[in-house]
Amino acid sequence: MHYIKKEFEEAIKNIDNNEALKQLKAQFLGKKGRVTELFKRISDLGNEQKKEFGKNINQLKSYIENAIKEKQTQINEFVKRKSLEEESIDITLPSRVSNFGAIHPITKTIIEIEDIFKSMGFDVETGYEIEYDKYNFELLNIPKEHPARDMQDTFYINDNVVLRTHTSPTQVRVMQKKNPPVMFISPGKVYRRDSDITHSPMFHQIEGLLIDKDIHFSDLKGVLSEFLRMFFGDVPVRFRPSYFPFTEPSAEVDIGCIICKGKGCRVCSHTGYLEVLGCGMVHPNVLRNVNYPKDYNGFAFGLGVERFAMLKYGIDNIKLFFENDVRFLKQFSF
Ligand code: DAH
Repeated sequence: MHYIKKEFEEAIKNIDNNEALKQLKAQFLGKKGRVTELFKRISDLGNEQKKEFGKNINQLKSYIENAIKEKQTQINEFVKRKSLEEESIDITLPSRVSNFGAIHPITKTIIEIEDIFKSMGFDVETGYEIEYDKYNFELLNIPKEHPARDMQDTFYINDNVVLRTHTSPTQVRVMQKKNPPVMFISPGKVYRRDSDITHSPMFHQIEGLLIDKDIHFSDLKGVLSEFLRMFFGDVPVRFRPSYFPFTEPSAEVDIGCIICKGKGCRVCSHTGYLEVLGCGMVHPNVLRNVNYPKDYNGFAFGLGVERFAMLKYGIDNIKLFFENDVRFLKQFSF
């Protein structure tokens, strides 16, 4: 009997799963099990021995039963612990990288310019991308057949309708709607038949208009110089006489070349200066066309957003803005 106990102890030691434990139980306590076989031998014994033998078998039986129960608990706990470990979240794992969208560099530049003018008290207005010839040209003092029309290669939809070539028609639209004083900028898309590394058939402009009493060229100079310094940093600013049909006098504004710091390079055509915007005092004909009272006057300006973005971020090809190459656009996600 002793050897059966030993045998059992040896066997149970190595058992680590329910299936094997079940087999072990059958092997010792099942119908043909080792312990059950012992009971069968009782009938061969004398009365005295029977008692003693029976007692021993019962002890062995309950010893084995308890050991199996205990093993069962151990196995259950082990299985539970293992599944908890496997299912638990590993907080040391690096997270999956999310791809965040970013604002397009053109939009970013528009927002930045808007913020500067808003801080000076300008409103923001919008116009129409498909415009009447009348608004794009005539009311801005550019009659049909006027040579100034050649300055802007136009997409005509029909004789009277164009894709606007500049944001200037918004000046007329707003002045027809609102009495003076007015003070706003107006960003938007414009279209010209033009395409090379600095020109795209669709690009963005920001128009500006300020109409009030007693506005002088010095106001124009002050506002634009301050704006350019806020956008580009501390750069030299110069005003050059120019011509636009809707302003008189007109000027073009240059900043000291931010690439070569005025020494002269390929970008500034060795002049040390970069042209960045057009401006002037609003032509009396334009004010008359919108029936503004005679004691009001003001200034206007227009700038190309792509040019501002290219200069500020050192981009040498305008196409990069419209190809939507994520590797390029990602560089502006700050
Ligand atoms: N509309 C002009 C252009 O596209 C830019 C411009 C020049 C706008 C002078 C103005 C201005 O308002 O006063 O070339």
